Amino acid sequence: MADLAHVLRHVPKTSPEQLLSGSDFADDAAVYRLSDDLALVQTVDFLTPIVDDPYTFGRIAAANALSDVYAVGGRPLTALNIVCFPIQMLDREVLAEILRGGADKVAEAGAAIVGGHTVDDSEPKYGLAVTGTVQPDRFVSAHGAQPGDTLVLTKPIGTGVIGTAIKGGHASQTDTRQAVRWMELLNRQAASAMLTAGAHACTDVTGFGLLGHLAEMARASGVSAEINVGAVPVLPGAVQHARNGHVPAGTHNNLGAVGKVVRFAEGTDDLDRLLLADPQTSGGLLVSISPDRVEAFRASMAEAGLAAVIGRIISGEPGRIFVKP
Ligand code: CO
Ligand code: CO
Repeated sequence: MADLAHVLRHVPKTSPEQLLSGSDFADDAAVYRLSDDLALVQTVDFLTPIVDDPYTFGRIAAANALSDVYAVGGRPLTALNIVCFPIQMLDREVLAEILRGGADKVAEAGAAIVGGHTVDDSEPKYGLAVTGTVQPDRFVSAHGAQPGDTLVLTKPIGTGVIGTAIKGGHASQTDTRQAVRWMELLNRQAASAMLTAGAHACTDVTGFGLLGHLAEMARASGVSAEINVGAVPVLPGAVQHARNGHVPAGTHNNLGAVGKVVRFAEGTDDLDRLLLADPQTSGGLLVSISPDRVEAFRASMAEAGLAAVIGRIISGEPGRIFVKP
C-alpha cells in the first residue's frame, strides 16, 4: 500500500484552473468548478469482499465509495457499478445480491445507479464510480487544517483487524455485527455536520489508516498534529484480535510507511501503534475544526455516528504526528 502511494504520487497529472481538488495525493475526490456556484465531484473506489454475506458486502462497498464525495462536503447524484466477478465459478445470485446491496445504499444516499461495467475475474470485486456536486465556496479539502484546530473522528477504527478475524473465522457474531454496522453507515450526516460547523479540513479514513490519512492532511496543510491514543475510538474486539495476531499485512505496511513522520510517546502500546495504522474500509470522516465549533458539530451529528475528539493540529514540520497517551 505504501509503495502504491509512492507510485501514484508520481503519476503525471494535468491541473486545469477549474480543478479545485484532485491534483494532490491527499485529495479524496476531484472537484471541478462548472460555474461560480456549482462544482462537479468525481470519485471511484472498489473492494474485495470483507464479509461473507454478498448483500452486506454490496452495502459496505457502496458506502465506502460514496464516502469520498462526503469527505469533500459533496452530495452524490449518480453512480456507476464497477464489478469483477468469476462468472464460471460463482452463482449469479451472489452477484445479484451484491448489486442489490449497493443499489439499496446508493438509494439511501439519495443518488441513483445509472449503469456500470462488469468483467470476468478470478476474485469478486465491487464498487462505484460516483458523481456529485458541491458549492465551490463550501467544499472542504484536506489542505485547510489550522494550528489550534481540534481533530474529530466520526467512526471507530479497527475494521482491518476485524475483517482479518472474520476471514479467519475468529470473529464473534457481536464483533462482526458491530463492524458491519459502522462500515455500512453513510458518512452523509458527518458531512452535513462538518459543513454546519465550518470545518477547515477533512479526509475520510480508509486504506492508509488513521495515521496515514492524518499525515497526508497535515502535510497538505503545512502543519503538524497530535493524537491522544486513549481518545481514539476502537471497535469492540479489535484489540483482542490484534493481540491474537489477526492483523492484515496492510497494517504493518502502513505503520512502516509513516515511521519517519510519526513520533510515539515512550511506552505507547504496540497494539495501539498497529491499530492507529490499521487500513479501514468505509472509515469515518477525520475533521479539522475550530475548537469552539466542536459542540455545533456534535449537535449536528446527533445519533448518526461519533464525534470523538482525538487530538489537535499544531504548528510545526508539515506532516509530522505526535502520538500521546
Ligand atoms: Co478518501
Ligand atoms: Co477512496
